[in-house]
Amino acid sequence: MSPRPLALAILISGRGSNMAAIARRCAAQEIDATVACVASDRADAPGLATARALGIETAALAPAAYGTRDAFESALGERLDAVRPDLVILAGFMRILGGGFVARYHGRMLNIHPSLLPKFKGLHTHRRALEAGEIAHGCSVHYVTEELDGGPVVLQGQIGVRAGDDEPSLSARVQAIEHILYPRAIGWIASGRLAWRNDRPWLDGHALTTPVVEDFDALETS
Ligand code: GRF
Repeated sequence: MSPRPLALAILISGRGSNMAAIARRCAAQEIDATVACVASDRADAPGLATARALGIETAALAPAAYGTRDAFESALGERLDAVRPDLVILAGFMRILGGGFVARYHGRMLNIHPSLLPKFKGLHTHRRALEAGEIAHGCSVHYVTEELDGGPVVLQGQIGVRAGDDEPSLSARVQAIEHILYPRAIGWIASGRLAWRNDRPWLDGHALTTPVVEDFDALETS
């Protein structure tokens, strides 16, 4: 059993809107978790100020100051471990993490990716979905493994691509559902519904072989 409440360390590089959505649900006690630290590879990440305003401890570590990726990631891991995180949450952390760091948090690190994985791993997912003529798009919450955007997906949110959509409109609708789904997945872990055992995710006592998918189209008003 994990300790309660679950301690979260959240890694960001930018705006931190997912971090804020998670932190607010923790503060409202809708999730039995607490954000113990928000860390960034960029001291100017706007999300750090948001975190501080929410009363959360923050840290900024500049990769350039460490010389090598391994050295940076060791320092980052040490900084995170100072708050004894149960889960490491990647929320717009724009660095590819090496094997050592991934192994350090194996089975307890999650990411949110703005596509319906395995489609559109990597960057510019909204543009690529539009260019590919997709009729559905969305986001995926997954455990982090060494394969970029390739770990087991536990929860996906799906929306329809509309005729007039462009990159900003699609991005905005995907972000809105990210703010619902990422806290939900973390809540599942906090409540014990979702766990990592035998090197795979389990939901409600069953090995999770395909992600839970929520179709948000039914909820759209326009
Ligand atoms: C999100 O769209 C997420 O899917 C991706 O990075 C973005 C982060 O946005 N991994 P924010 O910093 O949480 O606003």
